[in-house]
Amino acid sequence: MMTLMQTILATQVPQGSVALWWLGQNSFIAKSPLGIRVGIDLYLTDRCAERHPEINLRRRVPALIAPEELQLDIFATTHNHCDHTDPETIRRFHNRQGVLFVGPHPSCETFRSVGVPEQQMVPAWPGCTIQLGDVTLHGTFALPTDDSDLNHIGYVLEVAGGPRIYWTGDTSDHELLTSVSRYRPNVMIACINAGFNNLSHWEAARLASRIQPQVAIPCHWDLFPDNAADPEQFRAALRILAPQVRYVRLEHGQAWIYPDVS
Ligand SMILES: [Fe+2]
Repeated sequence: MMTLMQTILATQVPQGSVALWWLGQNSFIAKSPLGIRVGIDLYLTDRCAERHPEINLRRRVPALIAPEELQLDIFATTHNHCDHTDPETIRRFHNRQGVLFVGPHPSCETFRSVGVPEQQMVPAWPGCTIQLGDVTLHGTFALPTDDSDLNHIGYVLEVAGGPRIYWTGDTSDHELLTSVSRYRPNVMIACINAGFNNLSHWEAARLASRIQPQVAIPCHWDLFPDNAADPEQFRAALRILAPQVRYVRLEHGQAWIYPDVS
């Protein structure tokens, strides 16, 4: 039986589409028609639980890919919290030759601490653009959720001739989040957990009403018992605040191809 990473490697992505796999929290792998694989905030260990034993951060979704198995072209992070830039995941990511490690400067410090060479590091900030093959990553505005890291960003992943996927990253609510509209994202993937100053389900739905993607997907609600939320509340909030935006709830480890042209 193929592992999930082998399945991702074997998946052919149709022209004009992107394939996404959700691995829990804000961890995703995106694949383009040219086969470029981008990891976003890959958290594939239980390190947060060890770092914060005062609350229950034991992962409820198993790590669906072992870090040792990762095969990526870009490893991107939105900020330097342990569930987004995980040094243990990166340390165990053995096949990292030639991989671009993209993130704000505090994340680059973590990359550096686990031996990522300088020439493979690409600092990112709101408004930056990183291009590889048929994939362009745009850094977007995000508002820090506490003072332990003041350099949060989000991303828009744009596939040449295909869709644009927006990850809010961890962010508090702010009117500048609507600045992502300049990229006209087709899909918005938003944190909805409200805890630790992240967007609530209501704030995320209001953001969807302002930027008007075709699809809105909740994330960052599933992984930690002490930082969880009910995605049905986001679905309901969308019905009220942004009824024209389609709600999609992804299944962990299942490919979601957008748009589905089959
Ligand atoms: Fe987070």
